[in-house]
Amino acid sequence: MSEKISKLITEEQIEEKLTQIAGEISERYKGESVTVICVLKGAVMVMVDLVKKLNLPVEMDFMDVSSYGSGTSSSGSLKVNKDLENSIEGKNVLLVEDIIDSGRTLHYLIEYLKKKNPKSLSLFAMLDKPSRREFDIPFDWKGFEIPDEFVVGYGLDYDQKYRNLPYIGILQFD
Ligand code: IMP
Ligand code: MG
Repeated sequence: MSEKISKLITEEQIEEKLTQIAGEISERYKGESVTVICVLKGAVMVMVDLVKKLNLPVEMDFMDVSSYGSGTSSSGSLKVNKDLENSIEGKNVLLVEDIIDSGRTLHYLIEYLKKKNPKSLSLFAMLDKPSRREFDIPFDWKGFEIPDEFVVGYGLDYDQKYRNLPYIGILQFD
């Protein structure tokens, strides 16, 4: 069985979208600073490309989490593999995620972060796969809505591969 990748979103489209969204974020936090939190590892590419375009004082922090729990029940919980390094109490926090699929991970991550009393908490997800959503997630910004396909590249992996592709593609097996 071989793996094939068909391009879905090009480098140019990503670049254009990030320029637009960074402009909106810079406007929203005008005169303030923002702590950008990257959810490892998938959001690394989008986080670094985004912060370079922000016209604001920026702090960066990183988290690595996994979610547990079955089906559509709300009994799942969050496993924090790597926590924030600095306190976010009283700070404007912008959470950056690669893709929202069921929404489970973000649902619990948002609850977790709110308990740390940030001044504000907003969310930017590069990709939205709405067809499989189980938890309602309050987006502030989203990059692209995509169909129910498995995608790789630009931080997203299949078995830890393909994260370094500069574009986003659909992974197919044949
Ligand atoms: P959720 O908790 O179901 O929203 O899952 C979100 C996580 O699953 C993402 O942060 C990704 O790491 C992973 N994921 C979901 N869909 C894809 C995909 O199409 N390609 C690669 N990773 C994915
Ligand atoms: Mg992720």
